[in-house]
Amino acid sequence: MGIVEEFLDLKEGTDADLLAMQVGDFYEFFAEDARTVAEVLDLQVSEKSSHGSSYPMAGVPVDDITPYLAALVERGYRVAVAEQTDDDADDIERAVERVVTPGTLLESTDADARYLAAVVRDADDSWGLAFVDVTTGQFRVTSAESRAEAVTELYRFAPAEILPGPGRRTDDDFLGVLRERTDATLTLHDAGAFDAGRATHAVREQFGDGAVESLGVDAEGPTVRAAGAAVGYVADTDAGVLASLTRIQPFGADDHVELDATTQRNLELAETMTGGSDGSLLSTVDHTVSAGGGRRLAAWLTRPTRDLAELERRQAAVGALADSPLARDALRDALGDVYDLERLASRAASGRADATDLLRVRDTLAVLPEVADALATTPDLAESPARDVLARLDREALAGVGEELAGALAEDPPKTLSEGGLLCEGYDDELDALLAEYREHREWLDSLASREKDRLGVTHLRVDRNKTDGHYVQVGNSETDAVPDGGDGEYREIKQLKNSTRYTTGELEEREREILRVEAERADLERELFAELREWVGERAGLLQEAGRALAELDALASLAEHAAANRWVRPDLVEGDDLAIEAGRHPVVEQTTEFVPNDATFGEGRRFQVVTGPNMSGKSTYMRQVALVVLLAQVGSYVPADAARIGVVDGIYTRVGALDELAGGRSTFMVEMQELSRILHAATGDSLVILDEVGRGTATYDGISIAWAATEYLHNEVRAKSLFATHYHELTGLADHLADVANVHVAAEERDGDVTFLRTVRDGATDRSYGVHVADLAGVPDPVVERSRNVLDRLRDEQAVEAKGSAGESVQAVFDVERGEFADAEADGGDPEDALDPDAEAVLDELQDVDVNETPPVELLGRVQDWQSRLGDE
Ligand SMILES: Nc1ncnc2c1ncn2[C@@H]1O[C@H](COP(=O)(O)OP(=O)(O)O)[C@@H](O)[C@H]1O
Ligand SMILES: [Mg+2]
Repeated sequence: MGIVEEFLDLKEGTDADLLAMQVGDFYEFFAEDARTVAEVLDLQVSEKSSHGSSYPMAGVPVDDITPYLAALVERGYRVAVAEQTDDDADDIERAVERVVTPGTLLESTDADARYLAAVVRDADDSWGLAFVDVTTGQFRVTSAESRAEAVTELYRFAPAEILPGPGRRTDDDFLGVLRERTDATLTLHDAGAFDAGRATHAVREQFGDGAVESLGVDAEGPTVRAAGAAVGYVADTDAGVLASLTRIQPFGADDHVELDATTQRNLELAETMTGGSDGSLLSTVDHTVSAGGGRRLAAWLTRPTRDLAELERRQAAVGALADSPLARDALRDALGDVYDLERLASRAASGRADATDLLRVRDTLAVLPEVADALATTPDLAESPARDVLARLDREALAGVGEELAGALAEDPPKTLSEGGLLCEGYDDELDALLAEYREHREWLDSLASREKDRLGVTHLRVDRNKTDGHYVQVGNSETDAVPDGGDGEYREIKQLKNSTRYTTGELEEREREILRVEAERADLERELFAELREWVGERAGLLQEAGRALAELDALASLAEHAAANRWVRPDLVEGDDLAIEAGRHPVVEQTTEFVPNDATFGEGRRFQVVTGPNMSGKSTYMRQVALVVLLAQVGSYVPADAARIGVVDGIYTRVGALDELAGGRSTFMVEMQELSRILHAATGDSLVILDEVGRGTATYDGISIAWAATEYLHNEVRAKSLFATHYHELTGLADHLADVANVHVAAEERDGDVTFLRTVRDGATDRSYGVHVADLAGVPDPVVERSRNVLDRLRDEQAVEAKGSAGESVQAVFDVERGEFADAEADGGDPEDALDPDAEAVLDELQDVDVNETPPVELLGRVQDWQSRLGDE
């Protein structure tokens, strides 16, 4: 069978998108695959003819396939790799050894975690999720109670590849949501892998007999099914990688702060609304110096915790590090020298580590004592939990691994494992003996030239080697008379050159044979010894991953300390219960680039729900996000941007931005806004923090006010969450008079001589006017337009002042009766007869008037609003 036929045959047998087949020193792609790969990787296409046909062919060097694989996989291709399984040149066999997919790419080129996710739903809407990072051996599982919760987790982990379970496949809606909310490749894997029996078996096989029970979930339930499917998929694509999966870790919804996908986006935790990472919270506070540290900090920020003991532990460590600048510098210096130990351990376990990888393991382990020294420099630090991070480790066993590697590996190993030079002298007796032999032959060779010059009395003589002639003695033609030719053991001519002649001798030939033999034996032995060493290290992958995690954690803690120290952040008081008091708080990202005006925030009796008003651009959105981010940072264990803060641990942070305000994302429909509002009203509890930014704005004014009104009441009466609601509906400021725990705050602005100055200070009470026209003026809207706006505004105010309750002069205020929570009768308003309502509208108004907002569940209210809207047609 020709090469191309073999390729096509192997391709038939795999469901991968592309096949890379090893042919000698290259991985070749043929036919359609060659064209695809050439285009993606920008490679030359050549022609290969076979059995009378001609096929396109493209190839990449075997030694350098990693970046190519990574590039293909980044583009979403699943690539099968067929290696030569037999070196025998006459009888080369090839088989697909592994399929590299976005979620199982061991050779990841960036430092971010790379997750494979499996997600499955049982009939009763209970969900199971598994997240695997094969590059570090992390394997985490959880369950979810609803699709929204499952999507939230998927968003949080941002997997590269998702395996949706069976049944969900036909559910285009779910797949659609996944496509929209994640960048993952969706892989429809063998449904049998999700089968409860098979999955349970796979989990036991991989993690041990007690593994399923240790998860504390139903043995046949969705969590185990997802975990088993993930294990099965890894086994199918790249069984070698399984060895790096050393433990399975369940996590529950109880221990972390609920941050749904929309909130993560609104708060710009890891990515800004426009999609980049610059300007996100993470990029602002990330001063980590190692890949593992960066991953850990990202995980902390997207998964804040409610575990007070854990938070206090982190705070104490951050505090001790923040207060010890010299020790912190020393620590971060040391951590800057560590390699990605979690990943290196995984590579060793799966038999993929090369000599450089193991050297890096050695060098990283050598940093541990330095890290320990840095942590011992000040008494405070030595007694802090930062020190305990190291104390958890089996330092002796780790030092043992370091010593073993130091005693084994040569300093500058070759890239490939097939040459000698991987290992150093003193590691293995047999190898030492070969090296001694080799050296003896070399010395003989090296001194041959000078010996022969002396013996023969010639000056132009040298010893050298090349490919065709092997080793030879070369003598200048003027002196060849001195060469003893003929007899045994003497010179034999092999080649005449213009000025000199090449000879060999019996002994030289013998030595040459010996050298080749020794070299080959040495290479074989070294390869064997190296494989043993790698396996030995691989067996200690768990220990090394532990160490990698500890170093990552220290890096993340030091990074938080660094940021706290550089930005004068303070340690928040974390408490159980309701408190939330921030003194002179700042926005952690905005304060980096702006002269930031600090603001207080206080929640409690009488001010659990705060209506935030203020002119456009005054700082409402910034203020609310700042409160959310301070709370979030506190629950990461970080210090916070404030003069002081007392923070009752929250169970969730929910933010929603009204459709008009959500500029990016292209999802600005009112329906989405309402779905999201509905989710908050369901999910938030009295321990949550809710931030609503102009919610209700995506519809007509009356609708908007009604919804905002009802939502506020529901949050106040039923949910009892700490809430901030920025709104331009000044009507809502009236709520403070009727609901005990609603208070008004406003972002102050000053008007002088027709100019608005934003003070950016948040004060109690409502604003009394809109500064829109002034902002228009500031923005350079032509003077006549600004003038005309002023006139119109004044006229509107005059007309409606009569009806207005309170001090606000907004048009809608006139017809909306705050006390009764309803609209005043339009006709009694003295409205234009042309505005007289048709009977339909009257009916709607009657119903509207009859609604008891306190008694009606918000979802029903929304339904009714929708109904009214449709009955009112275009109006
Ligand atoms: N406390 C503050 N100190 C300094 N600048 C601020 C502050 N609050 C907001 N800003 C700036 O003011 C601008 C408008 O803020 P934003 O919160 O969007 O206003 P609003 O939501 O009231 O329209 C932003 O560019 C922001 O950077
Ligand atoms: Mg705003």
